[in-house]
Amino acid sequence: MFITFEGIEGTGKTTQITRVKEYFEAQGREVFLTLEPGGSRVGQELRKMLLHVDNKDLTPITELFLYLADRAQHIAQVIRPEIEAGKVVLCDRFADSTIVYQGYGRGLDTKVLQQLNEVAVDGLWPDLTIVLDIDPEIGLKRATLRNLEEGKAKEEGRFEAEHISFHNRIREGYLTWAALNRDRIKIANAGATPDEVFDRIKSIIENNLTQQSK
Ligand code: TYD
Repeated sequence: MFITFEGIEGTGKTTQITRVKEYFEAQGREVFLTLEPGGSRVGQELRKMLLHVDNKDLTPITELFLYLADRAQHIAQVIRPEIEAGKVVLCDRFADSTIVYQGYGRGLDTKVLQQLNEVAVDGLWPDLTIVLDIDPEIGLKRATLRNLEEGKAKEEGRFEAEHISFHNRIREGYLTWAALNRDRIKIANAGATPDEVFDRIKSIIENNLTQQSK
C-alpha cells in the first residue's frame, strides 16, 4: 500500500505522518516512512541543491528536472522495493507537489508535468493521497519558526522565503488539482488540534482503503 501526504509549508504533515505510521503498526503492518525530495542516497544530494536558499538562480525547468530525477531514483531504489516487500509506504510529498509547485506555483504547463511525472513514477501511483489544507498565513508562520528553531533557515529556507502570494497559489493549486483527481486525492482540514486533524485523516484512510490489504 502506498499513501502520500501533501500540503503547503507548515501544515503539520510530519506530525501526522508519524501518527499514521503508529496507526498502521498497531494493526500489525510494517511501515516504511520516506520523503521527497531526498528519499534515496542520490536524492539527499539533490535535496540540498533544491532547498538551499543560495540557489535562488535555479531556473524553473532546472528545478523541475531535479525533482523528477529525485523521484525516478526514489521509486526505483526505495518505494517499489518496499512495496514489493509488503510494507505500507508513507511518503511526505510526491508527484502532486510537482504539479502544484512547478505548475500552479511556477507557471509550467500541468499537462506536460503530468506526462513527465508518468515517466518518473514508472506506473507506480499512490493508492491514496491526503492533502493537509491550511491558511497559508498560519502555515508559513509555523514553517519559518520551525526552520529558525532548527537552525535551518538557510539550508531549507528557499521556499519559505517566497512571497505569500506564491503560497496562496500553491494552496489554491492543491484544491484545484484535488478536485480534478477526486478518486485518489482527499483533503483534510489541518486548521485544528493535532488530535482532531488525525481523526480526519484516519477516517479518510478507513473510508478509502478498507478494501485493500496490499
Ligand atoms: P520540505 O522542507 O521537505 O518542505 P515541507 O516540510 O513543507 O514538506 O521542502 C520541500 C520543498 O520542495 C517544499 O517547499 C515543496 C518543494 N517541492 C517542489 O517544489 N516540487 C516537488 O516535486 C517536491 C517533491 C517538493
